[in-house]
Amino acid sequence: MTLDEARALDAADPLRETRQRFRLPEGKIYLDGNSLGALPLSTAGRIAGVVEREWGDDLIVSWNKHHWIDAPSRIAAKLAPIVGAGADEMLIADSTSVNLFKLLAAALAARPGRTVILSDQGNFPADLYIAQGLARMLPGVTLRTVPADTIDQALDDQVAVLTLTQVDYRSGRRHDLAARTAAAHRAGALTLWDLSHSAGAIEIDLAGSAADMAVGCGYKYLNGGPGAPAWLFIARALQDQLDNPLSGWMGHADPFAFDRAYAPRPGIARFQTGTPSILAMTALDAGLDSFAGVKMAAIEAKARALTDYFIGCVEGRCPALALASPRDAAKRGSHVVFAHADAYAVMQALIERGVIGDFRAPDLIRFGFAPLYNGFDDAWRAADALSEVLDRKLWDVPRFKARARVT
Ligand SMILES: Cc1ncc(COP(=O)(O)O)c(C=O)c1O
Repeated sequence: MTLDEARALDAADPLRETRQRFRLPEGKIYLDGNSLGALPLSTAGRIAGVVEREWGDDLIVSWNKHHWIDAPSRIAAKLAPIVGAGADEMLIADSTSVNLFKLLAAALAARPGRTVILSDQGNFPADLYIAQGLARMLPGVTLRTVPADTIDQALDDQVAVLTLTQVDYRSGRRHDLAARTAAAHRAGALTLWDLSHSAGAIEIDLAGSAADMAVGCGYKYLNGGPGAPAWLFIARALQDQLDNPLSGWMGHADPFAFDRAYAPRPGIARFQTGTPSILAMTALDAGLDSFAGVKMAAIEAKARALTDYFIGCVEGRCPALALASPRDAAKRGSHVVFAHADAYAVMQALIERGVIGDFRAPDLIRFGFAPLYNGFDDAWRAADALSEVLDRKLWDVPRFKARARVT
């Protein structure tokens, strides 16, 4: 594997042009778009326009004049084809954690007599924390966690909702969304998918998989910026059966009537709680525009090819490193991890050399490949830098071992 071969693969890549939509700093190889997507070139101008003309000149009139009030559903419609949903099944709101809370509570209420939230014991800890909080709050409700490969056996008539993260934040292992959903339905349970590490990176068919509910972050592969608003999906047929426990005025049927009693809006809009952050929504809108004209099948194909190629480069150059992701590309998302006893220090040494990935406790170096802007050249160079860091033990210095707050 040579750099020239990597460049030839980039030249033949059907998605080679989309890299131009992003600001990618000279001298850096960015392999952490699975945590914070890169900055689209249009974002700063879009936000400046909203600040200057809409907020600055038109002030509060902008809620109507510039349709700020419709931002959560208008932007959701752009995301719908990226996750295989109908526009009327999507909403931009709150954070992933808050959306999980709302939908888990709604699912429990929609399955009276069932008291179990079922999850994978390796699920993203924040998702488990939210479920634990609900179990503390609602008498009788429990969180049951089991190994990922025993989910189907753990589905019984006590399970109200199965909640899983499709692509594991550490290994990148991919749950079969359609198969697990079908198993949950056979047991009479609802499904709530966390697609934070999937949306924008792999092909997803929420409608075709008969999924009930889903959530995801806006700041990872969707490029919405740090702390971007999150999204939620509810299958059309289920929407009017679900009750938002955070029944705020923005989900009210007529918020400006200021009725004393809550009455939900029809459809998914009832899951909006408070006033949307228009500046943050604008950045997410620009992030989603970076997918314009792109087919998700092409994203999936590139995710597989890039991660396969990177694994090949790393294994060829760094025989001491152990792959800790599934080897079969169909069984993982668009990031890969390798295990190393001094993973944190190795990643710090790489970052100092301009290759930005991240570390996941206890011993993983993680590399995310965003199909819109990463290429085979990035993969080759990252593997080259990694082999140098390991061969010359460049990581073995005290300054790379002191952990920062965010890893
Ligand atoms: C899989 C997954 N779920 C949930 C979250 C939490 O998202 P938030 O902090 O935006 O609520 C994250 C954050 O990284 C995540 O990766």
